[in-house]
Amino acid sequence: MTANILITPGDGIGPEIVAEARKLLEALRDDFGFDCTLEEAPIGGAGYEAHGKPLPEETLALAREADAILLGAVGGPRWEQLDRPLRPERGLLAIRAELGLFGNLRPAILYPQLAEASSLRHEIVAGLDIMIVRELTGGIYFGEPRGIRRLENGERQGYNTMVYSESEIDRVGRLAFDIASKRGSRVCSVDKANVLEVSELWREVMERVARDYPGVELSHMYVDNAAMQLVRAPKQFDVVVTSNLFGDVLSDCAAMLTGSIGMLPSASLDVNSKGLYEPVHGSAPDIAGKGLANPLATLLSVAMMLRYSLDQGALADRVQQAVGDVLNQGLRTPDIAARQSRTVSTAEMGDAVVAALRARG
Ligand code: NAI
Ligand code: MG
Repeated sequence: MTANILITPGDGIGPEIVAEARKLLEALRDDFGFDCTLEEAPIGGAGYEAHGKPLPEETLALAREADAILLGAVGGPRWEQLDRPLRPERGLLAIRAELGLFGNLRPAILYPQLAEASSLRHEIVAGLDIMIVRELTGGIYFGEPRGIRRLENGERQGYNTMVYSESEIDRVGRLAFDIASKRGSRVCSVDKANVLEVSELWREVMERVARDYPGVELSHMYVDNAAMQLVRAPKQFDVVVTSNLFGDVLSDCAAMLTGSIGMLPSASLDVNSKGLYEPVHGSAPDIAGKGLANPLATLLSVAMMLRYSLDQGALADRVQQAVGDVLNQGLRTPDIAARQSRTVSTAEMGDAVVAALRARG
């Protein structure tokens, strides 16, 4: 079956890092029998420049047809003065919403070669490999009613509503349990059930989902404790599943345990495992166009794409091994440079990963 992949480079370092991902995908296609088509379309500021909106209709149509989408990053100073609906970041929110990408996977893996990058002590983070599953299309970011209203005393009041239906909780729960059953078989569901009714329901539905996964152990944790535990003893977690707001905060916290923003991939999945894959970082306008960007987060996003949307787990493993190989060779982009490493450009890093892939055969 041919995998239809849409590449949306976006802005800033986006085009540079997805160029390396394209090299990798082409190598997989040409030398490893990976059957795929690669299309490209603008999004973000690039979408605005080409078609007057951050998510052009043509791009959305191609995204709907694709099996998986690889996004670079969007945004930059050039578009900051635009009205909100026209800003690049809106393109990203729109594509997530249009495609119903409810499940956001954010792995936090500390590569042994980069252990120095973490701000935590080595023994606390060495070998860290956790997966945060964040609900992405519901919760307080989308709940109604919302707004800023004027009270009778003349004062203004801002309000948002945290809402989750049973089906929304159920589907993100199943996603987390499916993933856990292929990893360490543990799910920690994070909520605020001591205060919030919505969390009470969340907990109840998670318990119900757990009954369908007898091989996976479910635990619950309050979000404030989870934040503490993530920095105190992060290796206690395998898969963490949580709501949109809590996941936003916890996933960034977990990401920083690794200390390397240029190394972190992510996935956002729909009910059919179609997904949007992107590095966690932004468009890094400060280093754009200079060959300084680390492409590894994007290449690792390709590995996630192979694993979670395209049923190519073996190829995903190979890509991850190739990334490990180049780190072992001592190659580093400036953001992860260390003593005794060799600093390479974006393109040199991409080439080295493809070479390592081929060397392993
Ligand atoms: P950022 O992640 O773009 O950059 C933060 C810092 O990390 C910068 O110093 C940057 O040079 C560095 N950095 C990021 N990625 C790197 C890489 N691959 N290699 C080496 N260094 C890297 O976040 P910032 O500066 O807050 O935002 C810049 C723009 O990106 C803004 O317009 C923002 O809205 C947008 N953004 C887009 C996201 C997306 O497309 N998903 C996510 C976050 C921000
Ligand atoms: Mg965030």
